[in-house]
Amino acid sequence: ALFDLVIRNGQVVTAADSSHCDIGIRDGRIVALGENLGAGREEIDASGKLVLPGGVDAHCHLDQPMPEGMKMADDFASGTRSAACGGTTTLIPFAAQEKGQSLRAAVEDYHRRAEGKALVDYAFHLIVTDPTETVLKDELPQLIREGCTSFKIYMTYDDLKLDDGQILDVLSVARNEGAMAMIHAENSDCIGWLTKRLLDAGHTEPRYHAAARPMLVEREATHRVIAYAELVDVPILIVHVSGREAVEQIRWARGQGLSVFAETCPQYLFLTAEDLGIDGYEGAKCVCSPPPRDEANQQVIWDGLSDGLFTIFSSDHAPFNYEDPLGKKPGGKEVDFHYIPNGIPGLETRLPLLFSEGVGKGRISINRFVELTATNPAKLYGLYPQKGSIAVGADADLVIWDAQREVTITNAQLHHDVDYTPYEGMQVTGWPETTLSRGEVVWGNGAPSQARGRGRFLPCGKPEMARPRVR
Ligand code: URP
Ligand code: ZN
Ligand code: ZN
Ligand code: ZN
Repeated sequence: ALFDLVIRNGQVVTAADSSHCDIGIRDGRIVALGENLGAGREEIDASGKLVLPGGVDAHCHLDQPMPEGMKMADDFASGTRSAACGGTTTLIPFAAQEKGQSLRAAVEDYHRRAEGKALVDYAFHLIVTDPTETVLKDELPQLIREGCTSFKIYMTYDDLKLDDGQILDVLSVARNEGAMAMIHAENSDCIGWLTKRLLDAGHTEPRYHAAARPMLVEREATHRVIAYAELVDVPILIVHVSGREAVEQIRWARGQGLSVFAETCPQYLFLTAEDLGIDGYEGAKCVCSPPPRDEANQQVIWDGLSDGLFTIFSSDHAPFNYEDPLGKKPGGKEVDFHYIPNGIPGLETRLPLLFSEGVGKGRISINRFVELTATNPAKLYGLYPQKGSIAVGADADLVIWDAQREVTITNAQLHHDVDYTPYEGMQVTGWPETTLSRGEVVWGNGAPSQARGRGRFLPCGKPEMARPRVR
C-alpha cells in the first residue's frame, strides 16, 4: 500500500479552508491530500464527518506540586488521555519553578513527571517565580534556546507573584531571546485587601471568591502589564481573560499598535459568578481565577472570539477533586473561600463546548474554531506547522468530528481523574468520533488507547508572534 492510513471522504477543515478530500498518512505524517488517493494499509471512512487538526490546548496544569495538603487530580497519564478523548492532540502544561528552586531543576522534574505517561505530544511553558541573576542571565535564556520558548508570570498569588521590577526583568529576557510571555493579570494587593474585609465581615462562603476578585483588579493589572510590555517593546499574551474590563484594555492596546495577544477559556462563556453561590459549598467546584462573571460579560467574550480579539481558546484545566481532603475541601472541611484551591477541569469538554455553542449556534465559523483551538496556539508557541494544521508534512494529528452527535455532558463519561465537571448536564451537539496522534488512534470506538507513554516531548521553536515589531 502507498500509505499507512488513508482517511477518506471527510470534509477537511483548516483555519483557512474547507475541502472535501482524502488524507494520506505515512510514518505519522500527512504526505498527501487529494481526490481518490491510492490504497492505505488501513482506511477510515469519514463520510459525513469533519476532519479537523487535533486540538492544541495551550493552557493546562498537570501534576504540579502543590502546597502541603493539596494535590492535583490529573497527572500526565490521565490528563493527556482526557484531552485525546476530547479531540486534543497537543498539550502545553506548565513546568513551574518553586521559589528558591533552579528553573532547570524544575524542568527536569516535570520531564520525569511526564516520562512514560503521556498519550499524546506535549511541550512545556515555564512558570518563572524566582527570577534570580542566574535565572535571568543563564537558565531562562538557555531553556528558551532548548525549546521552552514561552513562560508564564503571575501578578498575584503570594507564592508565585513577581513584583513590578521583576516583571520588567523577565519581559526583557523574552524580548532578547524571542520567547512568548504569558501574564496572569490580577492586582494582588487589591485582592488581599478585599479578602480581609470580606472575612472580617464573616463572608467566608465560596461565592465571596468572586467578590474578592472584581473585574477592576483584572483591568488594572492588565493595563499595567501592557504598559510594561510597551516600555520593554515586547509582545505579550494575557491569559484567561474573563470579561469586559480586561477586553477593553486589550482593545485599547491593539489600537495603539501594540502586540498584545489574548486567551480566554470555557469558564468565561459557560459559567457565571452565580455558579459559585449554588447550594452552599458546592460553588467551590467553580472557583477559579479570574472568577466567572455574568451573562453580559459572557457576551463580551463571545464578541472577542468572533471579531478576532482573542488569539486562542484554552481550557486552563486545573484539576482538583471536590470530595477530597487534598482538593476543594482541604483537610476534608468546607473552608473559607480563600483556602479553596483555584481552578476547574476542562480538557475534554473544551472543544465540544465551543463547537456546539460557537459553531453550532452561528457565533463563529468552523475555520475560526480551528484557528482558536489548534492553529493559533501552535503558532503562538512555536509548534506550527508541525502541529495545528492539515498540510503535507505536518504531523497526522487529526480529529474526525461528528457534528451531529448529541451529548449530555456527565462526569461519568469523561476520562480525567477529577470527580466532577462544572458542565454536568449541559447538552451539546458535536463530539469527536476518532482522534489520531501521529497517525495512531488515541480515541476511537468510545475508548481511549492504552498506549500511555507514546506521547513525545516537543521542543518549541521561537514563535514568530513573539518578535518585536520592525520599525
Ligand atoms: O484558577 C485558576 N486558573 N487556577 C489555575 C492557575 C492559573 O492561574 O492559571
Ligand atoms: Zn493564571
Ligand atoms: Zn456571609
Ligand atoms: Zn492556569
